[in-house]
Order: sequence, then structure tokens, then C-alpha cells
Amino acid sequence: MRVIVCENYDEVSKEAAKIVASEVILKPNAVLGLATGSTPVGMYKLLAEMNKNGEIDFKDVKSFNLDEYYPMSADNDQSYRYFMNENLFNHINIDINNTHVLNGLAKDPEKECADFDKMIDEAGGIDLQVLGIGQNGHIAFNEPDSFLYANTHITDLTESTINANARFFEKIEDVPTQALTMGIASILKAKRIIILATGSSKKEVINDLINGEISTNNPASMLKVHKDVILICDKEAYDK
Ligand code: F6R
Repeated sequence: MRVIVCENYDEVSKEAAKIVASEVILKPNAVLGLATGSTPVGMYKLLAEMNKNGEIDFKDVKSFNLDEYYPMSADNDQSYRYFMNENLFNHINIDINNTHVLNGLAKDPEKECADFDKMIDEAGGIDLQVLGIGQNGHIAFNEPDSFLYANTHITDLTESTINANARFFEKIEDVPTQALTMGIASILKAKRIIILATGSSKKEVINDLINGEISTNNPASMLKVHKDVILICDKEAYDK
């Protein structure tokens, strides 16, 4: 895993945007794997600016998002579909039909998940996956456990993740307790992966990711088996 340590959040956003932009420049019909959460917001803003300036074109790009709360309607302002539209898709020239976010109201969640994996395969696989990381090491909603799921699946959120995500909701009881999420193999199948981490709350988990062993108790550590992963973090998250 290559590690890029940046001065601050803005520099992390710039580094990440450069990598995504170069992917799209080199492969105009690139398939991007995208994340929500607060960390990639700055990167999405820069990508929208680059698109506006004519530096990058999303016309033929496809995207697949890591996860969605369950149950959750797409037009709820807490949904990940809403987040992606607000933070990126509404500001770039991507064809909205080429953007894929799991349906948080799917009647048959298992089928929704299997269809999602199939759609990724049919699109030729993910060229570049963008990830954030939870304070407990989760990537997408693959939570620390004694085992991890390979494929896209429905999962329960841990107390730690519910607490961390409560900041986006009026009260903690409103945070959904389940989600649909890509699995570890779905993520590792991506050709390239960048993982972003900023702020001192990520210090412990980033230290464990860099120096610790591969363990299902830190799902992000599974990334160490992938041959092309770049961790982009700020100084606060990187504790030598
Ligand atoms: C979001 C996702 C989550 C976040 C993680 C970090 O799609 O899959 O794993 O990446 O919870 O969130 P932030 O960036 O808010 O710290």
C-alpha cells in the first residue's frame, strides 16, 4: 500500500481529485466506485470544478456507490443517493442513468445486492474505487467481525458506526440500523483503490492499518492483499 501524507484536508482532497481526474482523462468511459461520508466531499467539489472548467468529462463515465442505508428512500435527504446527487452528480455532466446506488427500499434486498454485483461485472468491473474508513476500520459497511462477506449484502450496523453517523441525523434513534453494502471481494475486485482518511479520530485505525496485521477486526486491513492501493491521509490521521 502506497501512503501519501498531506498537510491537511484540502490537500487530501486535491491529491484524491487528481487521481480520479487522471483516471477519467485516460479512460473516458471509466467505471468509478464512489463513497459517501464527510471525507470525500472536498474531492467531489474539486471534481465538479474541473468538470465545469472543461478539464474532465464525465459524459461516458459509470459509477457504482459502495452502500445505502436500509430501509431508506432515495429522496430522503439522509440517503446516500441524495448525498451523491447533491455533492457530485447534480454538478457534473454524468448521465444520471449511469450512476448506480443500491435501492434502499428494495423488496428483495438479497436480489438487489446480487443484481448490483452483476451490473458491476457487466460494466467491466470498477477501474478506480474511492473509499473512506470508519473509526472502527469499516470500509463501506463491512464492520469488524469474526468473518467478512465477499459480495454485496445486507448487514447490521455496529453501535460504533451508528454513533459516528448520528451527527447527520436529528436524533440517534433516526439512524438506520441496517444497510446494503458492497462486500470485501466486491471492493478488492476494483483495479485501483484510493482510501482517504483525515482528522485525529482516524489516527488509531490508520496506525493499525499501516502497522497492524490483516484481520477481520479491521476490515480495511484486507486492502493489504490488493496490489494497487493508495492511502491518502492528512497529518492528523497519520500517526508515525
Ligand atoms: C460511505 C462509507 C463509509 C464511510 C466511513 C467514513 O459510503 O462506505 O464506510 O466511508 O464511514 O465516513 P466519514 O468520511 O464520514 O468519516
